[in-house]
Amino acid sequence: MKINNKTVLITGASSGIGKALAKLFAKERNKLILIARRTEKLEELKDELSGNNGEIYLYKCDVSNSSEVSNTFADIKTNFDSIDIAIFNAGQSYLMSVKNFDSHKAEAIIGTNFFGIVYPLEQLLPLFLERKSGTIVGVSSLADNRGFAGSGFYCASKAAVSVYLEGLSVELKKYNVKVITVKPGFVKTAMTAKNNFPMPMLMPVDKAASIIFNGIKKGKRIIQFPLPMVISSRLIGLLPAGIYEFLASKFDRKRK
Ligand SMILES: NC(=O)c1ccc[n+]([C@@H]2O[C@H](COP(=O)([O-])OP(=O)(O)OC[C@H]3O[C@@H](n4cnc5c(N)ncnc54)[C@H](OP(=O)(O)O)[C@@H]3O)[C@@H](O)[C@H]2O)c1
Repeated sequence: MKINNKTVLITGASSGIGKALAKLFAKERNKLILIARRTEKLEELKDELSGNNGEIYLYKCDVSNSSEVSNTFADIKTNFDSIDIAIFNAGQSYLMSVKNFDSHKAEAIIGTNFFGIVYPLEQLLPLFLERKSGTIVGVSSLADNRGFAGSGFYCASKAAVSVYLEGLSVELKKYNVKVITVKPGFVKTAMTAKNNFPMPMLMPVDKAASIIFNGIKKGKRIIQFPLPMVISSRLIGLLPAGIYEFLASKFDRKRK
């Protein structure tokens, strides 16, 4: 697929992967709709991208808040006839052991990572169905296949994203709407900066964004990287529950 002169919406564009993706899309004369809560960060990005030829529109929105999403997207739908590519990338993660169990953080993680896709989708699906074209990209994770100790809510949220998008992809085929699931390994962003565990093959954010950008261009159904992490995550996923838990609890004991 050619990615120029398109209208591209990106959630979580103020930082990390979303920001790096916005830079790549901006280079190709696309019209960008960038969404996040920190508008000052979005404004900085817009200034940085002002040398490119595309147009950039900024929206402040907490994607985990359904009424904020409906108000913001009502505005977007008034101002734009169509969205060609919607990238649902906004995400949160907190390390949470059983000693600091916090349901508010769980709500923030599941609210942003999963409902932060569901609420905007509710607003945009009618546009995609009517036009019978377009691409929906959801950023999940290679951590979608097992419950990792201390990151259970994050893994659960990403499992929900991957499984939901799989069904959606099948359902939208007859409407000619492509659904792409992105599953990165570890990427160097603000999200991973706070992790206190080893992160094998931690990848620079620009490299990750360029893999995602090229994957969207090629119309891949699943964009997952880096390959060694994809293979290990598959193998970990195949382990019987008892063996997985035995090995994972050895690692978890070392972690404390
Ligand atoms: N980094 C990794 O290793 C890695 C690996 C696999 C998957 N991922 C996924 O990649 C995506 C991007 O993460 P990142 O690593 O780039 O993290 P990041 O640098 O922390 O960026 C997260 C982005 O999401 C936005 N966001 C968070 N909560 C939001 C909310 N409630 N409403 C609207 N925007 C919100 C943030 O903007 P504001 O704070 O301004 O709202 C920010 O722009 C996430 O879905 C993450 O789970 C990351």
